[in-house]
This record gives sequence, structure tokens and C-alpha cells, in this order.
Amino acid sequence: MGCFPCFGGSKKQSNKKINSNNQQDDQADSASDTLKATLNDNVKNEESKKAVDQTVAVQQLNTNKKVDGDVEMESVKATSFTFEQMVKATENFKPDHFLGEGGFGKVFKGILKDTGQSVAIKQLDRNGGQGIREFVVEVMTLGSVDHPNLVKLIGFCAEGDQRLLVYEFMPLGSLDDHLHGPRRQPLDWNTRMKIASGAARGLEYLHDKMNPPVIYRDLKSSNILLGEEYHPKLSDFGLAKVGPTGDDTHVSTRVMGTYGYCAPDYAMTGQLTFKSDIYSFGVLLLEIITGRKAIDFTKSTRDQNLVAWARPLFKDRKKFYQMVDPALQGHYPVRGLYQALAIAAMCVQEEPSMRPVVADVVTALSYLASQTYDPQVHPVQNFRRQSYPE
Ligand SMILES: Nc1ncnc2c1ncn2[C@@H]1O[C@H](COP(=O)(O)OP(=O)(O)OP(=O)(O)O)[C@@H](O)[C@H]1O
Ligand SMILES: [Mg+2]
Repeated sequence: MGCFPCFGGSKKQSNKKINSNNQQDDQADSASDTLKATLNDNVKNEESKKAVDQTVAVQQLNTNKKVDGDVEMESVKATSFTFEQMVKATENFKPDHFLGEGGFGKVFKGILKDTGQSVAIKQLDRNGGQGIREFVVEVMTLGSVDHPNLVKLIGFCAEGDQRLLVYEFMPLGSLDDHLHGPRRQPLDWNTRMKIASGAARGLEYLHDKMNPPVIYRDLKSSNILLGEEYHPKLSDFGLAKVGPTGDDTHVSTRVMGTYGYCAPDYAMTGQLTFKSDIYSFGVLLLEIITGRKAIDFTKSTRDQNLVAWARPLFKDRKKFYQMVDPALQGHYPVRGLYQALAIAAMCVQEEPSMRPVVADVVTALSYLASQTYDPQVHPVQNFRRQSYPE
């Protein structure tokens, strides 16, 4: 799944409108049409203005200097590789090494010849929707972070017109593969909570620990990569934005992100806030609980958008059990389910100021992840059960 502007983007899905019976969403749809034209103009201006800066930025990356502009960061730790090293690591990008493809380009597994380290190498598709800006942002953002829930950027290659990013290899692939992939093996409740809690910690680092703080902008299940024992890490900072500083409450930007995860306020106004990420996190958490995709065009029109499907169910406790992934086969704690759904519901509220801050999400999910569910000890829930104890 690639990234694209939430409205007016290059990919097919972006032309589909979020489906809902909700009047507010209908208003959002008509507003988006107007917004589309404005955004497209902004994109052109922004792209041409930044093209010059980016050429300079890439040159500076190769000499490990600071970059000015909206991605200014501490010194970059990532190593600069030659293209020949990339070719050797992937046996000339052999199809056997192919891991997947997103909006940035193809990803290959590689082995660095000097160290024997396994890596994932992402090759920028020069015709793709994402570009040098994303490359620079990724190197600047990831190169300066060090957190157990963020994928490490080992290095990059910016030789000639080649642009490649070299990450630590995540052996269990993406959460998206595990939830929706063809060979999915159902994740148990404890693993799901562990993944949600780890993803929240990664986001907390970006929002609250980085200086300057960073808005992630592209939180989604395909960007949660899994290590040994399903240890989760956030990847892909190509859309990340340095957050608002001083008295500012938002950053104005063209609307980017992935359809289905994009906060409605951000989609309508282009004003990016930390609460935009919290909305996306709520969608992700719903996806983890329900096993449903954020957007699923194979479902009936009413049920295609996960949040629109969940909203009426949130209102009725008796219907909570309908939201659990059937793949869990009733193996989940009732109280844990209530609490997880409550967090998700708070995160996806229409009004951004009502959404929690990431530190509160981390506290709640860390607690949930610490409450280990044991199907041998705890009762298995009946699917057809009509009501739950208060
Ligand atoms: N560090 C990594 N380790 C292992 N596999 C990876 C790694 N990075 C990416 N992949 C694999 O490559 C696939 C494509 O990743 P990529 O980030 O390019 O696309 P995406 O996440 O689907 O979309 P987007 O471009 O919007 O991020 C992922 O689904 C994942 O399976
Ligand atoms: Mg990705």
C-alpha cells in the first residue's frame, strides 16, 4: 500500500470518498472537492520551491552535515554506501531478494558484505509519487533517532541519480501482512496488545522525546514492522514533519497520508497536528482488534471504512463482541476488549482536542499489554453471546 495525498492523489483509491451515513462526512466530501484543486496548486508550488533545497540537502547528506529547512535535525548518524555495495548486498537486486513494494519503490533483502549484517534496502522509484524530499526527510529523521520501537536506518546511498535507504532487517515483516496477508497466521490477543503498546511508545518518542518533536503522518499497519517475538517498530518517516513550535498549534502542509488513516480535520484543512497522528493510531488499534482493514473495497459500501463501521458499534456495549476479530475464536479478555475499544474510540473522535495525547495512550496500552490473557485460565468467549456483564 503506498502513500498518497488523502485527496487528489495519484493512486486510484484516493478518488474514492469515505463512505458514511454521517452528515458531517458528507460535508467533508464536498469540502474535499474544493480542497482538491487548492491542494494541487500548492503541491506544484511547494515541489518547485523545494527542488533546489533538496539537491543541496542530498549533497550535504553525503558529507554528514546539517540540513536547513523544515527537516533540520541533530547530526545524522547514517552511513553513506556506494551503489556498488548495494548491488553486491542484493546480488544485483535479484528477484529472490524482493520483499515488497510501496509508494517509495521496491524493497529488497540484502546482506552487507563487510559486516554480514542482514538489511532491507529500499530503492527510490524515480517515477514514483514520493521523491527526493521524502528521501531527505527519512535520512534526517531516522538517522538521528535511537529507540527500540523505531526501525533503525543503517545508511543510505545517494550516488548519481540513485537513491536508496538501508534499514535494519525486520524478520517477521509488516503487521499488515500478519493481519491481512494471504498466509496470515492469526495473532493472539497478547501479541496484539504488545504490538499496539510498542507502536504507541514509538509514536511517543517522536511526539514527546525528539527535539524538535516530529509528527509521523503515516501511521498504518504496513509501516509497523515486526522483529523477533513480534517486537514492533515504526518505519517510513518519509512523510514525517517537524511539529509546531512556540505558540503554533499546527503545521500547514499539503495533505498527505494513507486513505482510511487520515484524520478528517487534517484532510479538510491541511493543518497537521499531533492529534492527526493520534487519529491514525486509533484506526491502527481498531485494525488490530477487529482484523479488518482501514479501508476495504471488497466490503459493502457502508462497511468499507473501518471507523464509519465502528462508530455505531462503539455506542452499544452489547455489540462490542461483534467487533473482535473472528480469527481470535473467542480467545480474548472481555475487560481487556472494553478497554482497548475505549482507547480506540477516544483516538478516532472527530474533534481533535478530544483525542488523548500519546503519553496517555502509552500508559493505557502498557497496562493492557501487562495483563496477560491465558485461554487455559480465562473463559473462552462465545461468539454468539448477546450480552456482557457490566
Ligand atoms: N526493514 C524492513 N525489514 C523487512 N521487511 C521490510 C522492511 N521495510 C520494508 N519491508 C517490506 O517491504 C514492504 C514494502 O514496504 P514499503 O514501506 O516500501 O511499503 P508500504 O509500507 O506498503 O507503503 P508505504 O510506501 O506507504 O510505506 C513492506 O510491506 C515489508 O513487507
Ligand atoms: Mg512502509
